[in-house]
Amino acid sequence: MPIITCIFDAYGTLFDVAAAARNAAAEPDFTALADHWPAVARDWRLKQLQYTWLRATADRHANFEQVTADGLDWALENNSLDGDPLLRERLLALYWELDAYPEVPEVLATLTERGLTCAILSNGTPDMIAAAAHSAGIDGFLAAQLSVESVGVYKPHARVYELVETQFGCARDEVLFVSSNGWDAAGAAGFGFQTAWINRADEPQDRLYAAPHHTFASLTPLLELV
Ligand code: LAC
Repeated sequence: MPIITCIFDAYGTLFDVAAAARNAAAEPDFTALADHWPAVARDWRLKQLQYTWLRATADRHANFEQVTADGLDWALENNSLDGDPLLRERLLALYWELDAYPEVPEVLATLTERGLTCAILSNGTPDMIAAAAHSAGIDGFLAAQLSVESVGVYKPHARVYELVETQFGCARDEVLFVSSNGWDAAGAAGFGFQTAWINRADEPQDRLYAAPHHTFASLTPLLELV
């Protein structure tokens, strides 16, 4: 079936999750982060995602704002940076205005011009997604900003991917689901979407129950695909 709807994961795919730690490290108040920001960013992201999976498995949902703060607290303590409440506050604030990857606005603009429907499907809360999309200047290209908060469980639960069917009434194989998270691309492929894994970090493919249909290093090759 031809692709008529392009659904994008948000964090890591459109928005650079390392930008909060990197940008804070460049501010004069947070020089303590200068040598440590890559480790903080890595630990923060890893714990944030682990907490989503653990909470989904345990059926103990808490929203992404909470899980993001919990992951940050673990990361700051692990890097001996947990003594500065202003740093914690600044990092959490920056998470609401993450940089978009450079190619994102042009790719979304071109897909939209071609008549494709573009939307976000994210673990983020509706407020977090809206703030990041607005700050990156891409909200005008998005037909919907779908959040797991309406189903109360995290990706890769099928109830999350079903939000796309409910919103757009399209067949699963008419959807191209795009994610930089290999496990998310695999989850969406298992659900029945066509999938593109944006392997920004040049990682091995996750060994899961399904594999992404396409693998690219950035969003730009999507313009050849659809
Ligand atoms: C999201 C996470 C997985 O935006 O990055 O859903």
